[in-house]
Amino acid sequence: MPPSALRITPTAQELFDFRGDALILPLIEEGEPLRGPLKKIDEILLGAIARTLRRKVFRGKPSERYLLHPSTRLSVQQLLLIGLGKASELTPDRIRQATAEALRQLLTLKSRRVAIALDHIDWGHLAGETIAQTITEGALLGLHRFDSYKHEERGNGDREVESLTLLCSDRETVRSLKRAIGRGETLARATNLARDLINEPANVLTPTELAARARDVARRYGLAAEVLDRDAMRRLGMGALLGVAQGSANPPRLIILRHRGGDDHAQPALGLVGKGVTFDAGGISIKASEGMETMKGDMAGAAAVIGAMMGIAALRLPIHAVGVIPAVENLPSGSAQRPGDIVRAMDGTTIEVINTDAEGRLILSDALCYTRRLGARRLVDVATLTGGVVVALGSVRTGFFSNDRTLAQQVQGAGEATGEKLWELPLDDEYEELIKSDCADLKNTGGGKKAPAIGAARFLKHFVGDTPWVHLDINGTWLQEKAQGYQPKGATGVMVRTLIHLAATLASGRAR
Ligand code: BES
Ligand code: ZN
Ligand code: ZN
Repeated sequence: MPPSALRITPTAQELFDFRGDALILPLIEEGEPLRGPLKKIDEILLGAIARTLRRKVFRGKPSERYLLHPSTRLSVQQLLLIGLGKASELTPDRIRQATAEALRQLLTLKSRRVAIALDHIDWGHLAGETIAQTITEGALLGLHRFDSYKHEERGNGDREVESLTLLCSDRETVRSLKRAIGRGETLARATNLARDLINEPANVLTPTELAARARDVARRYGLAAEVLDRDAMRRLGMGALLGVAQGSANPPRLIILRHRGGDDHAQPALGLVGKGVTFDAGGISIKASEGMETMKGDMAGAAAVIGAMMGIAALRLPIHAVGVIPAVENLPSGSAQRPGDIVRAMDGTTIEVINTDAEGRLILSDALCYTRRLGARRLVDVATLTGGVVVALGSVRTGFFSNDRTLAQQVQGAGEATGEKLWELPLDDEYEELIKSDCADLKNTGGGKKAPAIGAARFLKHFVGDTPWVHLDINGTWLQEKAQGYQPKGATGVMVRTLIHLAATLASGRAR
């Protein structure tokens, strides 16, 4: 997938000197009266902006938009007002959302060269760099499309916004904004990479192909990559992972990506583990057919880890991080594992497979053991794991679980900074009942409708020992059913930005 062609540049230029197709004017709800260049523009437009505000046709509510056609009075054809809401409630995420909505509207109007004004309003406590970074993220995330299989759209330059110019008043600012834009570009491109992988159909994106794409990312961004095949995993004793894989003709892979920032010899400060089920039919405990096509996205956790590792490498974060992805396909066949089978994970734990559709925790158990064996000092896993988390939190917040207060707070903080909402769910010992087996150390499901997301998390907890760990269940947040804000319809790429932010936090504290 070619990266979005949108070029984003800061320029020290007055609003009315910009020559292009459209100008975006962000406005604060109940903000101060029009001043400076904004007042001048309003005068050129014979008071049109002041009038819309006075008549409350446009109030500046979050992501509210109002389009003006200045005709020949300005050097742009479209002037788009976007609302940022009240100054006291302004957050980076509001800027991402508003920018994305504005650009998507301008795309349908075929605007190609667009500018956004920065200096005409008071942005309150937000720093210029934060504003530039979040505008960049909003633009690139909001304009992203997955259309490589659509003939009429493919390579159609008419459907692109070509450039976005950030208009600011002085040259000094331009340099710092350039850096911030660069950061925003990396975060957005990492997320879009994950989205593309997730949207890719399962006939194309098999475990082998996922490994090939991960290797490609590694080559481009300077990560070390290693891929283990079935034999290598057998030698390591990864019986839980291999049991899931045995029903498919597409062989499994274990993908390892490594970024050696900071101390080269130290153990990895961060181990990221992503569920990579390239298609989940449920196995012998087969799923209902309605909606089963979305199960091509059961590797959204893997994609989040690949995207995050890309971002960590591109930003050259001074941290040693490793990404581990168990990649398998979960299909029913004559060689598939059966309900009632007992498998043995890499650390010797025996598991009774009650339901072959609870395959995520099986492959993650071996991947978590492996990542611990690599010496990771912290573990964060990301997985489209349970329907239960959707019942609990819908598609607004990602559910998370943790055995460590410090890491939990760091992950929570990273989510807040990036606008990816999280909510912690409990892991009390009493829930252990859900996964006690009569004939093995653990069973992979139990309890029916009782707390299935927690049962799954308790299961994973067995494989992390005393290593600080966070489990992110993204089953409610990986897919967007209707385009909204900076999320187009389809895969969201959720947790990529949170994980990169987490790595940056750990790096800035020089975590060991
Ligand atoms: N990949 C699914 C998660 C899922 C569940 C996606 C429901 C979409 C809808 C996971 O592997 C799964 O099948 N989980 C089951 C486990 C159950 C069989 C214990 C679930 O949560 O329903
Ligand atoms: Zn499943
Ligand atoms: Zn699954």
